[in-house]
Amino acid sequence: MTNATLRQCDDGSVTLRQLLVASEIYPLAKTGGLADVCGALPKAIARLGIDVRLMMPAYPEALARLVAPRHIADLACLLPGVSVRVVEGSMPDSGLRIWLVDCPELFDRPGTPYQDPNGCEWEDNALRFGVLCHAAAWVALGRAIPGWRADVVHAHDWHAGLVPLLLQLLSDHSRPRTVFTVHNAAFQGNFPLDQASQLGLPKELLIPDGIEFYGRFSFLKAGVRYADKVTTVSPTYAKEICTPEFGFGMEGVFQARCTNLVGILNGIDAERWDPGTDPYLSHNYSGNDLTGKQGCKADTQKRLRLNVDASAPLAVFISRLTQQKMADVLLDRLPGMMTRHPRLQFALHGRGEPALEAGFSNMVARYPGRMSVQVGYDEARAHCLHAAGDILLHGSRFEPCGLAQMYAMRYGTVPVVRRVGGLADSVRDPGMHDRLGRGQTGFIFDDATGDAMGSALSRCVATYETQPRRWSELRKLDMACDFGWARSAAAYACIYGELAGKQISSLVAERGAPQSANAPSHKQGRNAGL
Ligand code: ADP
Ligand code: GLC
Repeated sequence: MTNATLRQCDDGSVTLRQLLVASEIYPLAKTGGLADVCGALPKAIARLGIDVRLMMPAYPEALARLVAPRHIADLACLLPGVSVRVVEGSMPDSGLRIWLVDCPELFDRPGTPYQDPNGCEWEDNALRFGVLCHAAAWVALGRAIPGWRADVVHAHDWHAGLVPLLLQLLSDHSRPRTVFTVHNAAFQGNFPLDQASQLGLPKELLIPDGIEFYGRFSFLKAGVRYADKVTTVSPTYAKEICTPEFGFGMEGVFQARCTNLVGILNGIDAERWDPGTDPYLSHNYSGNDLTGKQGCKADTQKRLRLNVDASAPLAVFISRLTQQKMADVLLDRLPGMMTRHPRLQFALHGRGEPALEAGFSNMVARYPGRMSVQVGYDEARAHCLHAAGDILLHGSRFEPCGLAQMYAMRYGTVPVVRRVGGLADSVRDPGMHDRLGRGQTGFIFDDATGDAMGSALSRCVATYETQPRRWSELRKLDMACDFGWARSAAAYACIYGELAGKQISSLVAERGAPQSANAPSHKQGRNAGL
């Protein structure tokens, strides 16, 4: 039991006030899955009766999309020479209240939230996200918005990693409690030590037992060390990050928090990603009638100049083009796969490392009518490809959760994935020795090699081409999987409740309990029991 103040409602129940802090939240800003999660999770949290408010930087696109913006507070001299305005508005989809940290000299820039238009990280990223963290701490402590103070702050990824530490520095034991979620341990927000003082971080913290990390200071380490509870986005990844293979040097920091580290599988926004209603699709469809899916495939083949052939297996790859996603391995092995499976079609939509973008683009001319490569970032196209594909290729060297495989399954597109992180927790493959393949939802490979990826794809294509009945059962099972947020949101709410007070925990406990980082992994995954 903590001193967090819980608001008593007229009927005697208790409301918990939660502030979610992140660098990107869909639909205001998005570069990847972080935005999807921070857009969808709070909607599910609000459904549990929690008073959730959101906070992120006021990028130009976020200000433009905000509904009913109004300037509600000034945080003058948040840090020496930095003044910030807080702009309040509503989320365009859910109507949830959001506060944008408006500081034009830091956030009103072209490019992505993290990089300039040439793909270079902004040099002042420590200051930019340090300001987000300071503003969030002030709001959470009730020093910025009259009448509102947080009971729990949920900070996401390194950009919000200083919030738990700042709350400890700025307040006493009555401070709001903190949850820090690691979406990707490869991105750590490590900066030169001489930038720490500019962020108001005391010198005494720049030691290994503080936030120093290999001669720099680390936002991610700050979040992991100082949050009351640390979570990550799948049970398997929670175990993986405690090992040198997946910890990116931070494994010792995670191990030190292992009793307070849990993995909760991400959900998906099942309303936004619904083939029955998705406005981006040329045809809508459901598991009971896949005619619309065939229409989506034909339209996409036409648009992408692929042979319009309903029976050709269409494999899609919709992802950042990076080493994490094994895009380099795919580039190397794709010609072999196209030769081995002469009817296979391949469509890629993604952007990332320039050499990979060029490598894939240069390959297209060798496979007329069979290959399409679209370099870019486009939400509508991502939805259309998920619907049009038969197979989603999703190899990953590491994958904290991965959302693409869940979107694909919901759209009846069978995933081929590596057995890591959230992929292992969300896809089920009894293996090639189980001829009946009962309960199978995809094809999994173990090694991060082209051979392993290639043979899983071959198993998948062979099933598609020679076992139509089994393929249709597989697809049906995929479409029936429930990847909605309800269960995982309840697990988060349960954590908020534990941190903020008993009454809240008893309210949400019955709706779901978090999975321990040390519990066996994919047996507990979303598909357990299929
Ligand atoms: P990550 O966050 O590591 O990139 P996830 O699978 O968690 O991986 O989330 C990726 C999100 O980004 C999904 O919503 C996916 O549809 C989207 N996405 C990835 N690449 C593109 C692209 N080129 N255009 C549009 N959306 C994309
Ligand atoms: C990160 C991870 C991805 C995860 C997403 C949302 O971008 O790379 O696996 O799905 O965050 O949690």
